[in-house]
Amino acid sequence: MSWPAGTPEAFALVRAGYDRIGPRYRDGSRDNAVRLHFVQTLLDRLGPGSVVVDLGCGSGEPATRVLAGHHRVVGVDGSLGQLRLARSAAPTAALVQADMTRLALRPGSVDAVASFYALGHVPAAEHAHLFASIASWLRPGGILLTSAPVVAGDGRQEDWLGVPMFFGGIGPEATRQAVEAAGLEVEGWETVAEDEGDGRTVSFLWITARRATGERRGPGR
Ligand SMILES: C[S@@+](CC[C@H](N)C(=O)[O-])C[C@H]1O[C@@H](n2cnc3c(N)ncnc32)[C@H](O)[C@@H]1O
Repeated sequence: MSWPAGTPEAFALVRAGYDRIGPRYRDGSRDNAVRLHFVQTLLDRLGPGSVVVDLGCGSGEPATRVLAGHHRVVGVDGSLGQLRLARSAAPTAALVQADMTRLALRPGSVDAVASFYALGHVPAAEHAHLFASIASWLRPGGILLTSAPVVAGDGRQEDWLGVPMFFGGIGPEATRQAVEAAGLEVEGWETVAEDEGDGRTVSFLWITARRATGERRGPGR
């Protein structure tokens, strides 16, 4: 099934689904070692008091909470139910209910954009546009850290954690093209497989990229 760009149906399904899921997703993922590892890689790259936007922050556990312990964090999520959980987890974070694909932020105003396990709910037709928006929000030298889906295409799963859910992605090759076309320089690119806990594994593409500074490189490089 293909979901045209701009269609609100996918977002409505995701938002309603996460409202109904409530704390169940958080309870199964808050201690996830892969998340914590990549949160740390972002912390290692940030200067003090950085402005970090966490797209699809969900319950805030653990990424928004940990990042907000060190930086000025804005968590964005479509689900009010998830944002209520994030309010308790990360009381110092600013929280915004919005569709990340429709978000408008001041150009160059952000030191880092993080997004953990959320891009896989964005329709394929929106991915390149979203990377371009993220690049525009970042200051030159600002960082994107995200997990992206490895599977290309749009689809609906009728029973995901007990609710119907939308998934979308463009696959590794098109993701790389979209990231680079947005003016982001890739610094880290790895596929990590995770145990779902029920014998199944699921893989995500972990991307670290930096908005180009426009500075010339030294001679011979
Ligand atoms: C799999 S959860 C991940 C939550 C959190 N980042 C984490 O690592 O546990 C995905 C979250 O992204 C949010 N989300 C998905 N698509 C979104 C969109 N277009 N705009 C805003 N939030 C979205 C969902 O509501 C959900 O809370």
